[in-house]
Amino acid sequence: MTRRGRLGAYTFRFFAAAFLLLLAMPALTMPVRAEDGYDLWLRYRPMETSAQAQYRPLATAIVSEGISPSLDAAKTELVRGLGGLLNRPVGAGAVQDGAIVIGTPTSSPLVAGLKLPLSALGKEGYLIRSISLSGHAVTIIAANSDIGVLYGSFALLRLIQTRQPIARLDVSSAPRLKYRLLNHWDNLDGTIERGYAGHSIFDWHKMPDYMDPRYTVMTRADASVGINGIALNNVSADPWILSSMYIEKVAALAAVLRPYGIRVYLAAKFSAPVELGKLKTADPADPQVQAWWKKEVDGIYRRIPDFGGFVVKANSEGQPGPRDYNRSQAEGANVIADALAPHGGTVFWRAFVYSEKDPTDRAKQAYNEFKPLDGKFRDNVFVQTKNGAIDFQPREPAHPLFGALPKTNMAMEVQLTKEYLGFATHLVYLPVLWKEVLDWDTMAKGKGSTVAKVIDGSLEGHDTSAMVGVSNIGDDRNWTGAPFTQADWYGFGRLTWDLNLTPEQIAREWLGMSFTNDPAFANAVVPMMIASREAVVDYMTPLGLHHMFATNHHYGPGPWINDLSRPDWNPTYYNRADAKGLGFDRTPSGSDATSQYAPPLASLFAGPDIPDRDLLWFQHVAWGHKMKSGRTLWDELIVHYDTGIAEVGEMRRTWAAMNPYVDDERWSQQVAFLAIQEKEAQWWRDACIAYFQTFSHMPMPAGHSAPPHDLSFYKAIYIPYAPGAPGVTSAAFHNKPKDPIE
Ligand code: GCU
Repeated sequence: MTRRGRLGAYTFRFFAAAFLLLLAMPALTMPVRAEDGYDLWLRYRPMETSAQAQYRPLATAIVSEGISPSLDAAKTELVRGLGGLLNRPVGAGAVQDGAIVIGTPTSSPLVAGLKLPLSALGKEGYLIRSISLSGHAVTIIAANSDIGVLYGSFALLRLIQTRQPIARLDVSSAPRLKYRLLNHWDNLDGTIERGYAGHSIFDWHKMPDYMDPRYTVMTRADASVGINGIALNNVSADPWILSSMYIEKVAALAAVLRPYGIRVYLAAKFSAPVELGKLKTADPADPQVQAWWKKEVDGIYRRIPDFGGFVVKANSEGQPGPRDYNRSQAEGANVIADALAPHGGTVFWRAFVYSEKDPTDRAKQAYNEFKPLDGKFRDNVFVQTKNGAIDFQPREPAHPLFGALPKTNMAMEVQLTKEYLGFATHLVYLPVLWKEVLDWDTMAKGKGSTVAKVIDGSLEGHDTSAMVGVSNIGDDRNWTGAPFTQADWYGFGRLTWDLNLTPEQIAREWLGMSFTNDPAFANAVVPMMIASREAVVDYMTPLGLHHMFATNHHYGPGPWINDLSRPDWNPTYYNRADAKGLGFDRTPSGSDATSQYAPPLASLFAGPDIPDRDLLWFQHVAWGHKMKSGRTLWDELIVHYDTGIAEVGEMRRTWAAMNPYVDDERWSQQVAFLAIQEKEAQWWRDACIAYFQTFSHMPMPAGHSAPPHDLSFYKAIYIPYAPGAPGVTSAAFHNKPKDPIE
């Protein structure tokens, strides 16, 4: 090289180095990296330097002998996670000190040679163990299947992300529930029923030719917490999803999900044989209808061999169903189940069935319909039952069907999306609610017959089990619309894997992975998250009140609404406020819904010892009734509303002090959201008290202020375009006030 050439090369190198330094500058000068929540709990940001030094020798290389898409996913995640956390590349390598050896006895001779106790782990479980291999201290992640290895890899990363010691590991874990599913209520036009995090992330129009990389990110997040199935579309289903055009798109999504152990499900419309098949009927007893489902299902499995099955909403809120043909729910479910059975598919048949023509208390209708059908559903059918008998309220007694159908596979459906809980801006940590229902004792077979034992199959010896969550995922940059709603997605998966986890444990893990492991942070924020659930019950629907929500969109209070087309859509139907008192009499002298529960519960709920929290759900109580506290019902109600507001105030103060631990973006968004929550908690309280006071005519108890406006002010509050409502229906124009600009 000539002198000039050498000089040129030096100059080039100098400028290149300077350029790189310049690029690195912002990272060096910015104290905290900007965060927008996109990376969820899989952030893998570099650990503190001391922790890096501690963990680096324990994660030096990844040894994987087999090849499969799921093993690749496991390896890629370990490379990404360890590289980020340890702040240095960790790649494939040979057995050495600190190696992480992953595999199954079938794919890896190394793993096979260890003769590990894997038999109890089933298809999805994993074992993580620190062992000595050829004289080297290594960590082994072993399982019976490649998916188990993937779950184990996420588990090891979680241990590191939450700063658990990993030098002497001996962890075995298998999921408690077989089906751990999310139901997306996403419409094919991109809207989401009850979605508060933007539009659907499924861009159907561009599929299958363009598959948004976000599908993979979502899938990794699902798999990291053990979710193993997702239904892609709204339960109020569009039949088009079953057309060949859409099945091609569904197949492309299934291919993205497959390496992560996630099967695709679809919500099917019961009348699809008519709409898509051009048959004259969808009667399940009609041989042509049976043949249609079989042909449709065979066609789906040709394209998607591991298709999961269908979720069906039938005879509910205007959806067609078997009753339209005088057939039972079981006959409806079974025709679809029979088509799926040869392929190993499952029907999730929803118990959310109630009719505008049936004057029976809505809370009783599903039980009345399904109880006589126990034992009539095929083995590959789950009766998918909401946690409570009405509809995802801040608090409901457990659904009476739990424990009442011993010969039926029961799945519990909960809502992650916060339809009745203030949408994305109210911080309500939902694992507390779910755990309360799981721990609920149905007494069906004596004490200890918890809902958890019903749905994990152990109470009646079923060999299958399921829990389903209505997704809160949308195309918002942070996926779920708020920093803290991510905890519900995380918590749903973790809880369905291990029903014994406590909400506190889950919160601590999630906070460590999503923010920081500083104990001072968790010690302040975990109690805040736990308290958030009772707070919302207190400021929205205390003492067993329910369905006090504004029409259609369900945002804000509307306890006075009484003119909707169906009686059981009116809040007045539920609160029954009158001159005498408040609450729905469901005792034997009222609707007798109490008798749908096991006898000890039935008498508890109908009698004087009923817990305060369920009181107005089951009983109509005089305003002046003396509560356990010694206060009147009226005073007690107000104390609860104010306790809820005070708790939100406390949450605001707690979060305000967390600024040093959290990036500005997420911290300040949450600051604003908590301010919204407090303002709206006040709105709930004032509106409800203003309405109930027109009946009680009782004064505010000492120390509690009267609502600042009269009832007409609260009635006039109108929100025309709250998100998530199912279409702009005439109901959206309900009570539209005159509002001229003057
Ligand atoms: C609620 C919700 C509806 C939903 C229904 C269901 O009623 O408001 O939007 O379709 O539940 O679970 O089917």
